[in-house]
Amino acid sequence: MPVPVILDCDPGHDDAFNILLAAAHPSVQLLAITTVAGNQTVEKTTLNARRVCSVAGIRGVPIAAGRDRPLHGPRRIAENIHGDSGLDGPGFAGEPDVPQDPRGALALLRDTLLAHPTPVTLVPTGPLTNIAALLLAHPELAARIERIVLMGGSTGRGNTTPAAEFNVLCDPEAADIVLRSGLPVTMFGLNVTHQVRATPDVVARIAALGTPLSGLCVDLLTYFASTYREVYGFDAPPLHDPLTVAHLIDPSLFRLARAAVTVELNGTYTRGATVVDLHGVTGLPAETDVGMQVDADGFWQLIVDAVRTLGG
Ligand code: RIB
Ligand code: CA
Repeated sequence: MPVPVILDCDPGHDDAFNILLAAAHPSVQLLAITTVAGNQTVEKTTLNARRVCSVAGIRGVPIAAGRDRPLHGPRRIAENIHGDSGLDGPGFAGEPDVPQDPRGALALLRDTLLAHPTPVTLVPTGPLTNIAALLLAHPELAARIERIVLMGGSTGRGNTTPAAEFNVLCDPEAADIVLRSGLPVTMFGLNVTHQVRATPDVVARIAALGTPLSGLCVDLLTYFASTYREVYGFDAPPLHDPLTVAHLIDPSLFRLARAAVTVELNGTYTRGATVVDLHGVTGLPAETDVGMQVDADGFWQLIVDAVRTLGG
């Protein structure tokens, strides 16, 4: 049976590939997409989710806009990585033909969780504001959630401050609420997402598909590579978010560790850090599954296959 999934995202170049992967693979049933402010404003991330679904021919998946700022503190965006549109690189012509669902994200999440006959896996790949708000507003819906499989945090250094990864830093209180919710959580942080770089070989394999969608994907990866080179000096950009859906598709590609994960909320220089107790020294309960290793070749094969499947 396919895994029923709701994506909560901030497209964002890597979020876009996660949408493609979830829509393309038969072992995932993409029920809905909700968007959040993160890489860009929620207006832009919502438009981008619609654009990706429109170009890829993904129909019948409702897309609703969520929170435009974190639970606490100032809003932060990543235009230095994803550009002014949040999905710079390709030229998107006109208005996408995929509509925006008139419900807000919380209503769409609630309705989808209640309507599905079995518990649903939530896959947040942006700041965790929507997910935290859902758990606060509707604690009774926890029983309808199978697992939360998120991209965020790191077992090591951050990427936005030396200590904090972008998604968690955007809304540390939301991440804390999710990680302490008691729900099963699988976390893919920078320590493992940096193992999958979109090298020129990967880009060439996608380009060779020769479809309009593959061309768009090449434009996305080319832009993403330019900003990761400029900002971080990377030779190729890590495609963070699709590790989440890839793990749902083929867990054998991954090695996980079970650990206590806490979020630093007060540190002057460390706010937003995920503190991952890999050796059980804190005495805190080890309740989070933490991504440690990924088979990069197997991961990229899933991505190329998804672009081929949707490209027609
Ligand atoms: O730190 C990387 C994460 O922040 C990814 O999810 C990227 O899309 C941004 O949201
Ligand atoms: Ca993201």
